[in-house]
Amino acid sequence: MRLLVCGGAGFIGSTFVRQRVREHGDEVTVLDKLTYAGREENLSELAGDERLRFLKGAIEDPRAVAEAIELGAPEAIVNFAAETHVDRSIAAPDAFVRTHALGTYVLLEAARERALRYVQVSTDEVYGSIEVGTFTEDSPLAPSSPYSATKAAADLLAQSYFHTYGLPVTIIRGSNNYGPYQYPEKLIPLMVLNAMHGDPLPVYGDGMQVRNWIHASDFSRAIGHVLEHGEPGEVYNAGGPDEEANITVVRRIIELTGASESQMEHVADRPGHDRRYSLSSEKVRALGWEPRCRFEEGLADTVAWYRDNPSWWQPIRSGEYREYYARQYGQALGQAP
Ligand code: NAD
Ligand code: DAU
Repeated sequence: MRLLVCGGAGFIGSTFVRQRVREHGDEVTVLDKLTYAGREENLSELAGDERLRFLKGAIEDPRAVAEAIELGAPEAIVNFAAETHVDRSIAAPDAFVRTHALGTYVLLEAARERALRYVQVSTDEVYGSIEVGTFTEDSPLAPSSPYSATKAAADLLAQSYFHTYGLPVTIIRGSNNYGPYQYPEKLIPLMVLNAMHGDPLPVYGDGMQVRNWIHASDFSRAIGHVLEHGEPGEVYNAGGPDEEANITVVRRIIELTGASESQMEHVADRPGHDRRYSLSSEKVRALGWEPRCRFEEGLADTVAWYRDNPSWWQPIRSGEYREYYARQYGQALGQAP
């Protein structure tokens, strides 16, 4: 296939691009704004491969989108491009509104003009929190944060293009991803790098919030299944095989890195913090997908990847991340990293 992958220089987008080029022989054009979270280095394993083209640009810029489509003549657009950190959305929601609402609209218009298939990559957070049971695709949307509310807005806009214009849109909602190349603002890479450096491990509130962990390679394969076999107009959930409390994840990282339990510090809770996410993935399983990676093994591999790839995270930890970290944790935790 020929694909336009928006946000393909981020964590999951780059995992998806590597998978599609190497395992499916797809020709991929990546359009990415290269925000703090996007890095061309995330695609370096494909350096020199003529099946990959890269264009720096924002999805809310119709000229950049048109240029990317001209460059790759795609049959489908897969949209990963997003601001993805809940804590940043609480501190400054504006970029979230622009990228998720306006950016998705610009992409949908481009798809409509050219009758392209469109896959919107979304999140379980649009359903809000669930203390008991599991969300299905029919669960009502009840997002809690500016991040999840603007992701829900993008989903609704995408669905409206199916209902109103007959655009072949599919939506896939994933649970918490982990794996190599994840920016260290997120729970797992943050804890791994802090544990390795002897820095504090900041647990929000009581740490008993539960997340449903999926390896990014499994989520990427689910997106591929929806792209190839999904029914236009439908939503598909893709959750991982394991649910864990945050504090259990942090304790496991302490064991894997040889850090000390005394590094763990309970800090102020996230405002509006969702207590638990849980997804039923029966519908995407019916398309032939199933997760391959259990959390225990995937977490150990992920810790090993961060340990073995300092050249990936060192430039991040010395740049914009330091300022973010000081703003987010400074008063509670002092100067780390
Ligand atoms: P990420 O932050 O690592 O990557 C986001 C990418 O989008 C970056 O490369 C960034 O430069 C790019 N981007 C941001 N704004 C852009 C814009 N306006 N125009 C073009 N590019 C832009 O995020 P991720 O964790 O890889 O998430 C990718 C997608 O998957 C997002 O849509 C996210 O909502 C969704 N998702 C993430 C998770 C998770 O646990 N990380 C789970 C479910 C769904
Ligand atoms: O569920 C899917 C979502 O998962 C994606 O849509 C988001 O893009 C992605 O960021 C992620 O959202 P979360 O808010 O669940 O992920 P985060 O890594 O920020 O936090 C995971 C849990 O860990 C959450 O309960 C908050 C907690 N946490 C996080 C950080 C960064 C801490 O206790 N301490 C921390 O320092």
